[in-house]
Amino acid sequence: MIRIISDRLLIRDHIEEDLKTMHELLSSEKTMFYLPEIRTKNLNESKENLQIAIDEASSTNRSKFFFAITDRFTNSYIGEIGLTKLNENKYGNVMDLGYFIKEIFWGKGIVTEASKAVINYAFENLNTIKIETGCIEDNKGSERVMIKLGMIKEIDYKRQIVLHTQLYDRVKYRLFKEEWK
Ligand SMILES: CC(C)(COP(=O)(O)OP(=O)(O)OC[C@H]1O[C@@H](n2cnc3c(N)ncnc32)[C@H](O)[C@@H]1OP(=O)(O)O)[C@@H](O)C(=O)NCCC(=O)NCCS
Repeated sequence: MIRIISDRLLIRDHIEEDLKTMHELLSSEKTMFYLPEIRTKNLNESKENLQIAIDEASSTNRSKFFFAITDRFTNSYIGEIGLTKLNENKYGNVMDLGYFIKEIFWGKGIVTEASKAVINYAFENLNTIKIETGCIEDNKGSERVMIKLGMIKEIDYKRQIVLHTQLYDRVKYRLFKEEWK
């Protein structure tokens, strides 16, 4: 099991006991507003998602690293952070970073702290050469996390994504291993 520790957090592979709290998060209309494709409609769908994460964690050729973010002192569940391998080449891996946490924890620097720990882990342990992430341009909190991480804006997509019937711009950020301090 992967366990990554930071000042306040334990970021770890999933366990079956995550289901209830994970489902509350995955099914939340407000939290998942910008992520409708991964919002779940019932407990069974959340269970399937959790099973994918658990199965991946024991796979020998792992391409998804979906972690639970927890409070390292109380073990309480905070949210999700994950890396997905987009591309593997002779130089190493290109990974996509994604995150979402429960609303009561927003604005406390938690995703910035968790992302730093996971990025470090990816560059140190997963033969990663580049990390990408992106968001709908209106999702200012998410873009701010990317900026605070020192990521570099690579692409400004205009009118790229339809979300809840509205057309939105999207931004994409990147970090090369040599850009990470
Ligand atoms: C976006 C999200 C991941 C941020 O997590 P977080 O732990 O609150 O992030 P942090 O506290 O580390 O940093 C957030 C930053 O955005 C800023 N911010 C938040 N909302 C903002 C807004 N509407 N406009 C401008 N800045 C905003 C905060 O002030 C903070 O910046 P600061 O430290 O300079 O003050 C979290 O709000 C979330 O889970 N949202 C719902 C799911 C989601 O949208 N995920 C991302 C999909 S791409």
